[in-house]
Amino acid sequence: ENARIKIDVERTIGEVNKNIYGNFVEHLGRCVYGGIYDPDSPHADENGFRKDVLEAAKGLNISLLRYPGGNFVSNYNWKDGVGPDRPKRLELAWQRLETNEVGTNEFMTYAKMLGTEPYFAVNLGTGTIKEAQQWVEYTNVKEGPYYAELRKKHGYPEPHNIKYWSLGNEMDGYWQMGHLNAIDYSKKAREAGKLMRLTSPDIKLIAAGSSNYRPDANPDEWNRTILEELKDYIDYIALHIYVGNPDDNYYNFMSTPLVIEERTKIVKGMINEVMQRTLRRDHTEDPIYIAWDEYNVWYRARSGANMVGDRALEEHYNLEDALVISGMLNAFIRNADVVKMANMAQLVNVIGPIFTSKDDMFKQTIYYPLALFANNMHGTSLDLFVDCETYDTEEFFLGLGETTTKQTDVPYLDVSATYKDDEVTIAVVNRHKDKAITTDLIAQTGEFTGSLEIFEVNGPDIKAKNDFGETNVATKKLESVKAKGKSVTYAFPPHSLTIIK
Ligand code: AHR
Repeated sequence: ENARIKIDVERTIGEVNKNIYGNFVEHLGRCVYGGIYDPDSPHADENGFRKDVLEAAKGLNISLLRYPGGNFVSNYNWKDGVGPDRPKRLELAWQRLETNEVGTNEFMTYAKMLGTEPYFAVNLGTGTIKEAQQWVEYTNVKEGPYYAELRKKHGYPEPHNIKYWSLGNEMDGYWQMGHLNAIDYSKKAREAGKLMRLTSPDIKLIAAGSSNYRPDANPDEWNRTILEELKDYIDYIALHIYVGNPDDNYYNFMSTPLVIEERTKIVKGMINEVMQRTLRRDHTEDPIYIAWDEYNVWYRARSGANMVGDRALEEHYNLEDALVISGMLNAFIRNADVVKMANMAQLVNVIGPIFTSKDDMFKQTIYYPLALFANNMHGTSLDLFVDCETYDTEEFFLGLGETTTKQTDVPYLDVSATYKDDEVTIAVVNRHKDKAITTDLIAQTGEFTGSLEIFEVNGPDIKAKNDFGETNVATKKLESVKAKGKSVTYAFPPHSLTIIK
């Protein structure tokens, strides 16, 4: 019997916010130096930025770019990265020398070239609320006060108008420099946010929710506390997730995007609860949204020498990783009513979709699903009916140091859909390793007309990787298929992502 996907354009979930196609640049390993910026590369432009990397990044249609960290930010003094004197600092989070050649203004030049919205994180570890306020003054105030005038003196007469600001990074994590407990973090974030908003009233503030679902972390208590304490100030709560396949169990790994969905639903419930009990003072009408502020597959380069220095976190991705990323993007779309931001961590070299050497680069497997989604999945998210075979997993570890999970009724077909300008676009991951799944796509409202445009990400086997000069996993545009009437039948190939417009 065929699987079935029923599509009803009147059953909607919410608007897909383009900021779910965000990305992240941290001063870590070769993400900035040797990644987006490398004056010694033959591909560098007159400012030292890599043209080939920029071109590849443009293909990801990046809506939002988070900067400058990450764990890095929790001991970062933004003043080291502006003006003519750039002190070299010992960078403690990732154990390297930070030259500060790239800072606020250089990053803004890059964001402009990329055509993306900047999203800055302030240091709430070793930094003060005053330094956070001064940074906003430097970037967002047109003229008058000291730091606005300093920016002008540095050659930037117009303010950068940075709208998105996160209040610290992973402050729940014991590894975070200046780690705080939930109440102390809330107090510091509230006061920092207050000063930042007094300086630039239209900014959006993102609070550091739970990054840390380790067995002893108590993430729900952390999230509940900061929602209670910060509800009058924040626009988003940030969650982070990294998953892996350390036991080399394909089906367990394929189920990990469902964890995003579980956590999203729990935090959504908490937001509703907090909002229902007490009204917000300042933003009474505005909802609080969830930002999946960092997400990716990360488990190989996650210990010892792989965790520090100039070559830290250089993960080499394969096809199964690309399918997990597809599942994560599906999960964001299926929760489009509350997930209004998501940032792949990170853009280049460091757990990134783009990988460089001094004179070459290649696109990793995870590049392709992100590019396909970011360029095609927009509009209203649809609540689909999906009927297909399912499987159960045993209990397994999500990734290094993380909590365990067990998933039941994991559908072999993982699906999301968007609707825009009379056109439905559907994203389908076939998680089955060996079997094509023949599926009836059934229109509950309207009819199929014209021809279906079909894109597929696949490869010779689930462990297939790309490398310099070698592309084994990529997007293929297939021959379009004529469609007419209420239903179309399509066979989704094993271990694949298919996007049909
Ligand atoms: O993205 C790599 C690191 O993962 C980030 O610096 C940190 O926020 C998280 O732990």
